[in-house]
Amino acid sequence: MSEERVAIVTGGGQGIGKGILLSLASAGVNVIAADINQEAAAEASREAESLGVKAISCEVNVVEADSVEKMVSVTMDAFGRIDHLVNNAGITRDGLLMKMDDAAWKAVIDVNLNGTYLCSRMVIRPMIKQRYGRIVNISSVVGAMGNVGQTNYAASKAGVVGFTKALAREVAQRNITVNAVAPGFIQTAMTDAIPEKAREQLINQIPMQRLGTPEDVASAVDFLLSDAASYITGQVLAVNGGMYM
Ligand SMILES: NC(=O)c1ccc[n+]([C@@H]2O[C@H](COP(=O)([O-])OP(=O)(O)OC[C@H]3O[C@@H](n4cnc5c(N)ncnc54)[C@H](O)[C@@H]3O)[C@@H](O)[C@H]2O)c1
Repeated sequence: MSEERVAIVTGGGQGIGKGILLSLASAGVNVIAADINQEAAAEASREAESLGVKAISCEVNVVEADSVEKMVSVTMDAFGRIDHLVNNAGITRDGLLMKMDDAAWKAVIDVNLNGTYLCSRMVIRPMIKQRYGRIVNISSVVGAMGNVGQTNYAASKAGVVGFTKALAREVAQRNITVNAVAPGFIQTAMTDAIPEKAREQLINQIPMQRLGTPEDVASAVDFLLSDAASYITGQVLAVNGGMYM
């Protein structure tokens, strides 16, 4: 059955999203790399296609309703269905609260939380019609434990968890599951910005003594999207090397 499935991965152009996209493609799922960075999305979808599935790319800004609507219609035109949505697009604009400017607060809430809302709202109708769907939202360990300089990011990622649980209850009877994955610190462009000394301190707090990889996160997402997880909904699966239990 999985060879007929169709998955949209937002922020699928690089980092964790690209890892998820390629992992799904190698499991035979047709994929849409949806990203604000059109070039990265196109390259990611080419790589996915080389794994033997049908893959397309789509330029999307998850904070704009028109853009998200277009992403959904492009997918429906190409594949006629949407089985999986992975709300992965996310940003950081770090700073201590007393120095935080409103733009940094709003941008992070917009992409990470409002983007998750918009994309989910737009795919839920086709999923309900199909009587099948899986949504996985990428939260963060920071949403559960907080982090200095990340009030905006922590609020957005905690918001994603509440959203996940509420939507899971709304659509459970429609054979749609909604779960979240909460990565710890994962080796991507987002964490490349951490200075070397801070990185060492961070690794010391991780029982497994290493940063995670996009593939570590992709494995958890694959599981939650699979038939093996059909009775799991409203859950948060932590992928953090034990740094927060
Ligand atoms: N890297 C980590 O340690 C880590 C830890 C926990 C959670 N996360 C979460 O995982 C997700 C992916 O993070 P990453 O580390 O791969 O980041 P990344 O910066 O490498 O990739 C994010 C992708 O999202 C895209 N994007 C950004 N804004 C967008 C928008 N408005 N519309 C569409 N696409 C947009 C970017 O172009 C990029 O391709 C994010 O939600 C992030 O918060 C990351």
